[in-house]
Amino acid sequence: MRTFLKWAGNKQRIVERIDELLPRGKRLIEPFVGSGALFLNTDFASYLLADSNRDLIDLYSTLQSEGADFIDFCRPLFSPENNTPDAYYALRTRFNQTTDRRLKSTIFLYLNRHCYNGLCRYNASGGFNVPFGRYKKPYFPQAEMEAFWAKSQQAQFCHADFATTIKAATPGDVVYCDPPYVPLSSTAHFTSYSAGGFGFDQQLALVAAAKAAAHRGVPVLISNHATPEIEEAYAGARIEHFQVQRYISADADNRNSVGELLALFLP
Ligand SMILES: C[S@@+](CC[C@H](N)C(=O)[O-])C[C@H]1O[C@@H](n2cnc3c(N)ncnc32)[C@H](O)[C@@H]1O
Repeated sequence: MRTFLKWAGNKQRIVERIDELLPRGKRLIEPFVGSGALFLNTDFASYLLADSNRDLIDLYSTLQSEGADFIDFCRPLFSPENNTPDAYYALRTRFNQTTDRRLKSTIFLYLNRHCYNGLCRYNASGGFNVPFGRYKKPYFPQAEMEAFWAKSQQAQFCHADFATTIKAATPGDVVYCDPPYVPLSSTAHFTSYSAGGFGFDQQLALVAAAKAAAHRGVPVLISNHATPEIEEAYAGARIEHFQVQRYISADADNRNSVGELLALFLP
């Protein structure tokens, strides 16, 4: 199943590899759900899906509760008239000003498919600021939204920081963490999913939360770049290395194959 959003760090291409390492359990918890590639392609009885991006979680909650009505409400925005810079910037302004959750979710979907590279980036005051993407005919992900809606009936969505989400895990749960990756070099800084960024202190806080969860009987699997600092921080976990093709990178030199790892913290 394909995700309906374009998302930096989307795990679509490596879900099988992740699923092979993921211990079994009743509920899968994803504190950094993003576009939800693993959720869509695994078979747990239930899911707790969280992210610190409120617009993302509001979109999922709206689709979950409204289903086909919401999909019908979104479709008209994907028209040739709305695929121009003027229409794009007018809708982006509306998105940044409206407090209507349903309208905001609709425009968030439109922005995701019409903005530059499908990026999700905000300025310091929280305004979405990605420029127009100039696509010939942006795709309306009707089938992908329908599939997401059907599967979302097993899920609970939550707008939360990872620390809060991981604290909610109890034995029987399995946690998969896909945080913004540690940069490969000082010029590769793609960590702007939401205002605030994700620094090395947060990478260490994530390791501490994973170790605490494992101590409570909950296995935690984490994805990241295989840098020496990360390997040191993950000492004690079972680590698997592999190479991945990257498409979104601030550093053109890193667009090719990069070393990643999966670290499993077991109870
Ligand atoms: C690498 S992406 C996850 C990609 C996802 N696995 C997928 O397949 O699309 C990282 C996600 O972490 C979220 N995020 C960043 N900082 C966070 C934090 N402190 N707590 C929770 N989520 C956070 C971002 O909004 C983003 O959606």
